[in-house]
Formats: sequence, C-alpha cells, structure tokens
Amino acid sequence: MTHLRGRSVLSLEDFSQSEIQDLLKLGAELKAAKRGGFEVQRLKGKTIALIFEKDSTRTRSGFEVAAYDQGAHVTYMGPGGSHIGHKESVKDTARVLGRMYDAIEFRGFAQEDVETLAKYSGVPVYNGLTDEAHPTQVLADFMTMPEFCDKPLHDIKFTFLGDGRNNMAQSLAVGAAKLGMHMNIGAPESLWPDADFTARINAIAAASGGQVQFESNPQKAVEGSDFLYTDVWLSMGEDEHLWADRIKLLMPYQINTALLQATGNKAVKFMHCLPAFHNTETTVGKDIEKRYGISAMEVTDEVFESEHSIVFDQAENRMHSIKAILVATLG
Ligand code: CP
Ligand code: NVA
Repeated sequence: MTHLRGRSVLSLEDFSQSEIQDLLKLGAELKAAKRGGFEVQRLKGKTIALIFEKDSTRTRSGFEVAAYDQGAHVTYMGPGGSHIGHKESVKDTARVLGRMYDAIEFRGFAQEDVETLAKYSGVPVYNGLTDEAHPTQVLADFMTMPEFCDKPLHDIKFTFLGDGRNNMAQSLAVGAAKLGMHMNIGAPESLWPDADFTARINAIAAASGGQVQFESNPQKAVEGSDFLYTDVWLSMGEDEHLWADRIKLLMPYQINTALLQATGNKAVKFMHCLPAFHNTETTVGKDIEKRYGISAMEVTDEVFESEHSIVFDQAENRMHSIKAILVATLG
C-alpha cells in the first residue's frame, strides 16, 4: 500500500471511504501475520516521537508495540517530560522533532495543536486523542465489529450512549458516516454535538448512504442495534466538579442488562474504548461510590463481564490498527 505514504491521521474526516477500508483491511492482515508468525518488518530504522499530554495505557502501548514489531524505535514524552506548550511553542517543537523523527504521535487537549504539529513538522502526525477526536480508536472499533458480526460494515447498526458530543461520540459519528453505517447517539439533548458538526456529518452520510441519528430516549435509541458502545461520562481534561451533574444526567443511559434486552437482539455486543468505570476497583471508582453511592457508571459490572462484552478484543485491535497506520504512512 503506497497511496497513504506520508499522510497524517488527524481526523477520519480527512480520509475517503476506500482509504479507511484499506487501513481496516491492512490492520486485519497485520493481525493475521503476527498471529501466524509471518509478519514482515517494514519500518526498520524509523523513529517515532510519542507525545502524551494526557495519560494513556492502550494508545501508548499500541504505538510502542506496533513500532517494535515493525522494527521502528520510539521516544515517549509524557506529561511534563518535554518543553512542549509551556516553554516552547507547538510550532517550534514541531520543527525540532521533524528534524529528528520520521513521524510524531500526539495525545493532548486542542485539536489545533495536532494540526500545528502536522503543518510544521514536515512528517506524518498521528492524533492519539484530543478533546475533539480519537481516530485511531475508531479504526480499532471498526476492525473489531466484523469479527463479531456477519454483516458488512455498511449494514451494521450501532448505538453510542452517554456524552454524545465527546471525542469518542464525534469520531465514531465521522467514521460511521464515512463508511455508510447506521449509528444512533443516545444522549440527553444538552449533550448533543453542535449544529456545525451535525451538518458536516449529515453531508458525509448523505454521500455514503449512512445515517447518524440522535435520540434522547435510551430504550428507543438502542432498538435493533448490533452493538452498544459507551465511554466515560467525564473525559480527561474536564472539570471534576462536573461529576455530580453528569451522573444525574447520564444514569438513564447506563448500559445494563435491561438496556441490552431493549435492543431486541440476543446477539448484541457491548463495546467501550476503555478505561471503564464498571466497579469500584479504582481510586476514582471508590471515590464516586463514597460520594454518590453508585458502584458503576456508564456500564454495569454484569454487562462488562458478560459474554456480550468485546472490550478486550477492541483493546487488542488498537495495536494492530495503529500498526496499519504506521505501515501505510511510513512503510
Ligand atoms: N482507549 C484509549 O485511548 O485508551 P488509553 O487512554 O489507555 O490510551
Ligand atoms: N472520552 C474519553 C476517551 C478515553 C479513551 C476521554 O477523552 O477521556
């Protein structure tokens, strides 16, 4: 695959339907190659800078392992580990790193920062999550769905429940619209994306035959879904004081057994980008239980641990799909 060489991955909005399909196909091929022991290294001698202004388990590991498997080297720069943003502008950092590295991954706050890195570094830049978008997660998710459902992607119907305007909801909506899928967003109206975004999505969906619909009634939103997807109710960078309001607002959208049943689909699968608040085995989970008397938020432990749950397959596919991006853009 040569047509994506040199490209940055800032948002799936920049990619055509066939380019996204090519990345998904390459991800599946690379997964089979690794599993079968016949992976070929296409990134020998390449160097990749990994900038993380926010914490990460999957995205960091995905980039690191994908790079190592393919023969590339990485440098991890964590929050506070470089001058970026506080002592040196993103634009200057871009020009420095572009002289040393073959590519840059960036996880941070502003989408504008990842765009600035791409504009001034002269090398491919990958968005490892911003406040607006998480494109590498969506590739993993759309790689995972066909592993658990016989339908082609454009026949799949899935529902995202929770904060309908966070980075995951918006990126899934872009991806679904590009690939001609049917996506429902089940969320209270106050957490729907703004009109500009909705208009952009509708235009993309009109061209692909897809559909992205908003529904404030959670039971109605999930009807006939092949997959139910959720994410944390408060994203990284949002003010902790918002927890009380968010919990009140989003509790009706919690994915529990009753909501799985409301799909009317016995084979429905549960998805989550992770990390998830499904029990009290974390400091945040414990604190929320103490303050609000609940032991789970966006998904119950029962659903998370059930046979419907495919969250760890998604997590594994982060690595294979990130590898596809690296190979396609740098190989
Ligand atoms: N889903 C995801 O991006 O996980 P991390 O925050 O662990 O990278
Ligand atoms: N919406 C979440 C996604 C984490 C992968 C966040 O930004 O924190």
